[in-house]
Amino acid sequence: MRRLMVTGGAGFIGSNFVRYMLEKYPEYFILVYDKLTYAGRLENLEDVAAKFAGRYAFVKGDICDAAAVEEAARTYAIDTIVNFAAETHVDRSLMEPGSFIQTDVYGTFVLLETAKRLGLERYHQISTDEVYGQVLTGRSKESDPLAPRSPYSASKASGDLMTLAYWESWQVPVTLTRGSNNIGPYQYPEKVVPLFTINALDDQPLPVYGDGLQMRDYQYVLDHCEGIDVVLHRGALGEIYNVGTGSEMPNLEMTQIVLETLGKPASLIQHVEDRAGHDRRYALDVSKLRALGWESRHTCAEAIEKTVRWYAENAWWWRPIKSGELYQAYYAQQYGKRLSEKAERR
Ligand code: NAD
Ligand code: TYD
Repeated sequence: MRRLMVTGGAGFIGSNFVRYMLEKYPEYFILVYDKLTYAGRLENLEDVAAKFAGRYAFVKGDICDAAAVEEAARTYAIDTIVNFAAETHVDRSLMEPGSFIQTDVYGTFVLLETAKRLGLERYHQISTDEVYGQVLTGRSKESDPLAPRSPYSASKASGDLMTLAYWESWQVPVTLTRGSNNIGPYQYPEKVVPLFTINALDDQPLPVYGDGLQMRDYQYVLDHCEGIDVVLHRGALGEIYNVGTGSEMPNLEMTQIVLETLGKPASLIQHVEDRAGHDRRYALDVSKLRALGWESRHTCAEAIEKTVRWYAENAWWWRPIKSGELYQAYYAQQYGKRLSEKAERR
């Protein structure tokens, strides 16, 4: 395993993973294959292109395009695919589920077919704790039944099942990881921690859905990357591994940490209309990955603080996104009515 194709490598977790792997393994070559949707940005990899010239290449392409995927894999003599490419935001999946089914289900099938046809050494699927559905008590183990409740998580669950089917049916050498909520540098500010941070930096309201007591395990993105690395090198074929801190906190506590880190007042918090079908709690049992020698290095609180500081220091990265038409149109659609209803009631 030396020549990796990282699909979705221009996105948040993918770009952090590419940097992490190129630094850790000097003998590895990485091809990033990415469609560059709104969430995929070459800025996320700017330093990588400069620092690892000769060991890194980029191809713009869709994972649903079988011919283009195969051509890229052959051209760069790829032996491993790590698939981060996906539509990833629950709120967008409630607005337009079709693109989620296309990329997260059909695209995963295309990559698996490629891995099978080319006889690759490994296909690794990046998945999420959301496939277990909401877990009101206890912690999800890898053997638990899947009970996704949003179009996003239903699409991801389908991708997981297809990945396992290729192992069972044809022994395509697959592994899977299911991560909890990732936070850190280069996360598109539609997800809650970067969105709340850049709003707070601009003294704008923080729209908390419903009562804000939903529980999430906010893990630092590089802890997740390290977990994926461990599974790639020491995981068993056909197996699933949960990756998270193994503890979770209510959204209001996360919000409080964002505000305290920036020295901003609690009056910025605005409770708004809840997300449809909002999962109340995710919680992972991570003992299977720990048994391989992996350990999360940050608590949720440490991960949030570190992330908030990165956004405070890197306005060059998020300011152009925030002021762009695409983001503003999305923000108006998702929050315009929610925030104005709230203002009217006061
Ligand atoms: P992201 O939205 O930041 O990035 C997704 C990337 O995939 C982008 O670069 C985008 O351009 C690319 N992409 C989308 N559709 C594509 C297509 N059809 N062909 C090629 N490229 C395409 O996402 P992220 O947060 O970095 O998530 C990466 C993976 O990790 C996803 O599979 C997601 O389900 C999973 N995951 C995310 C989290 C999280 O908290 N962000 C947690 C657990 C698992
Ligand atoms: P998000 O970052 O969208 O991740 P996910 O839904 O995949 O867990 O949301 C994290 C939590 O924050 C979730 O419980 C929904 C909540 N949330 C808000 O309260 N307000 C917001 O504006 C957003 C985007 C999320």
